[in-house]
Parts: sequence; C-alpha cells; structure tokens
Amino acid sequence: MKIKPGQPEAGRVLEDHYEPDEDGYPREIVGPWVLDKHHFLRHYVTASRGARGNMGGSHCLIDLYCGPGKARIRETQGSVPGGTLTAIDAASRSTRGQAVPFSRVFIADLLEENVRACRARLSARSDVQVTSFVGGAETTVHQVVGNLPRRGIHLAYLDPYALPQLPFSVLRALAAAPKVDLLIHFAASDMVRNLERRDLWSRFDAVAPGWQDSCNTNRGKSVVRQQFFTHWTGLLEGLGYHVSDRVVSVKNTRRREIYRLVLASKHKLGDNIWRTLNDRSGQKGLSL
Ligand SMILES: C[S@@+](CC[C@H](N)C(=O)[O-])C[C@H]1O[C@@H](n2cnc3c(N)ncnc32)[C@H](O)[C@@H]1O
Repeated sequence: MKIKPGQPEAGRVLEDHYEPDEDGYPREIVGPWVLDKHHFLRHYVTASRGARGNMGGSHCLIDLYCGPGKARIRETQGSVPGGTLTAIDAASRSTRGQAVPFSRVFIADLLEENVRACRARLSARSDVQVTSFVGGAETTVHQVVGNLPRRGIHLAYLDPYALPQLPFSVLRALAAAPKVDLLIHFAASDMVRNLERRDLWSRFDAVAPGWQDSCNTNRGKSVVRQQFFTHWTGLLEGLGYHVSDRVVSVKNTRRREIYRLVLASKHKLGDNIWRTLNDRSGQKGLSL
C-alpha cells in the first residue's frame, strides 16, 4: 500500500518518508539514530518494572506521536519495530522471573494511516488493550488523560519531529494526570536550525512560553540555545516534574546533534533508573 499525495493529510505525508511493508501497512524510512531512541525507551521500560510491580494498579503507555509502528533504517533492508511496539515488548518480557506488562496503551498520531497501522501491528503482536485517537497531540492528550486509570505508573513517550509539534500545553495536560513519567524527544536540530531566525521565534512561543523574556537573545547562538533549553526544563519543573540532569544527546554521523532524550518524572526514582542505563554507540550525556 502506497500513501498517495492525494489522500487526506498528504501535504504532510511525503512519499519518501514511507513505503509499504510486507504486512501491507506503511513503514517509515528513518535514520540509524532512531535506534538510540528505542534503545533508551526499551531499557527504561525494563528497568522500571520493579517500580511498576511495587505500585500495583494498571500501568499505561502513552504515545501521542505513534507513527505506523514499523520502520526501515535508510540504506538497510528489513524492518525494525517502532517505539510503541518496542516498549510493549520490553514490558511484557520477564527479567529475573518478573514481567510487569502495560495493561493498556494509548496511541495517537496526526495521520490516520499511521494510527491504523500501529494499532494493527500492536494487536498482531500483543494482547494489550489498545485505545487510539487521530489528531494533533494538543487535542488527543485530553482524550487520553480523561481515560487514564488513577492507580498505576504511566509512561508517556513523546516523539515529535519538530519542537512546535510539542506545545507546552501537551505537557501541562499530562502533568495534571496522576503519575505520568515523560520520556521526551527534544528536537535539538530544530532548535539549532530555527532559533537563530528572528522571523521564526513566534513558532517557539507555544513550545516554551515566556522564553523570549527569560533568554537574552542578544547573546551568541549557542548561549541562546542553552538558555532556551534551560527555560523549557524549568517550565517542566514548575509542573512538579523532576527533570533528570542526565540528558542523552544523539548525534548523526557528522557529529551534529539531532535530538535530546529527556526524562521527567514526578518522583526521584525515575531519575535513578534513567541514570543506570548504559549509553549506546558512544552517545554522550549533556549537563543541564
Ligand atoms: C518521529 S515520528 C514517530 C515515530 C514513533 N514514535 C516511533 O518511535 O516509532 C513522528 C510522528 O508524529 C506525527 N505528528 C506530527 N505532528 C504531530 C502532531 N502535532 N500531533 C500528533 N502527531 C504528530 C507524524 O505523523 C509522525 O508519525
């Protein structure tokens, strides 16, 4: 199945981003750095099983930018599972005799085609209860939060392509729900490319409200970027999150930073777990 430019949302669906997989659903074509994201997601889910087990209740995974659930690494053959499938698989595997699977997964995406594919792939591989929504995260987050069980440790994996796709209102809505840890893909390359362009500043206002007042935009580019990131993490702390100062910085083959992985949790345990995870392929942590 090929996604055609004439289909709904086709303006955003570029043919060279997707191709059909053997199962008939689309898969995304991605760079190798996606594997780092999934490595940390998998290991965080595995390492936090004890905390989920001790807490009891129903633990949910939330992926508001779920994609189609499968990808192919550019210039390689074969498929790799997407983030949601990776996390569900990690939780359901038993380590030292103990598995604490997610009892429910909430998926959403702007593209209906992606939600349909991700849902089908989850159902084919797992018994987990799947609830899906189509739409922008700023809308779907409210549908998800309204359905979250009160007891349980939930994990929201937030994986947008660009910063404006993750307005702060999404994080605020998740913070209002009980015990939702956040594993955030912070699109650093977007910040590097666009924060230096005054004509684009307004697109960052919803991402980090108040940043223009708290950053000294007369300083050098790298200082402004650092101030922007510090302001954003400060906003998260203002919501009651502990933001781990271990920030994983993922770079491309030319050593340019593509994204950061940020772990924010309402309890210190999340940070303690995050710190135990080993780096992959030499990706370095940043200090906040
Ligand atoms: C990086 S991909 C997701 C990959 C997936 N999380 C994984 O790990 O396999 C980003 C996804 O965000 C979706 N998207 C873009 N803007 C969005 C928005 N405002 N709200 C929700 N989804 C959005 C895109 O359609 C795309 O599927």
